[in-house]
Amino acid sequence: MIRLGVNVDHVATVRQARRTVEPDPVAAAVLAELAGADGITVHLREDRRHIQDRDLRLLKETVRTHLNLEMAASREIIGIALECLPDQATLVPEKRREVTTEGGLDVAGNSRALSSAVSALRDAGIMVSLFVDPSPEMIRASAGVGADAVELHTGCYANAGTQRDRDRELELLKEAAALAEKNGLRVLAGHGLTYFNIRPITTIAQLEEVNIGHSIISRAVLVGLERAVREMKALLTR
Ligand code: PXP
Repeated sequence: MIRLGVNVDHVATVRQARRTVEPDPVAAAVLAELAGADGITVHLREDRRHIQDRDLRLLKETVRTHLNLEMAASREIIGIALECLPDQATLVPEKRREVTTEGGLDVAGNSRALSSAVSALRDAGIMVSLFVDPSPEMIRASAGVGADAVELHTGCYANAGTQRDRDRELELLKEAAALAEKNGLRVLAGHGLTYFNIRPITTIAQLEEVNIGHSIISRAVLVGLERAVREMKALLTR
């Protein structure tokens, strides 16, 4: 069974559309856990477009499974992470104009800054994962900066227009996962995963966990969050 981290950012996106108090991502996290989620993921963006500082504080108190904070390696957000102490931090690149996280981290090109961010977070007892494209260079660099895990960016796999391209992207993910394991890194994956494209991903032997947001919250609007989480969990068997 591959673990499921449910990303509740989009619940906050709906709330922020009206700058009101509902729907509450903290309530969504409780329901997701009751439905079998193995973890809750949130991205505290520097522009606070969805998740707010208050959400993170309350999630730290209420999440019973595993709290994963997606974050830029900026001084402000690292400070917040060190105060909040989530179970895990996932370092992601962040551009203000993007609709969602667009690519993996350039670990090789930012190794000095990332090394110090990784060691500050790990010294505080936080497991650190780096969100990277499935490229051998980025996997080796992730091991080099001392990360515990990599989250393989599945966006190219999800966006592939033909079966041939999708098969090629899956192969790249499998090669990256094998290389990560060889370098002592745990293997997670996420971005763009849906009820329709998840099954082939479960054939990645080293994969421990996926983080899924948009597809689950979209389905939840129509069928309810509990059912949406259960249906995704059911697809995560090997
Ligand atoms: N993993 C990371 C690192 C992300 O940035 C995101 C998007 O916030 C996700 C997973 C979830 O992606 P999606 O919403 O496409 O399922």
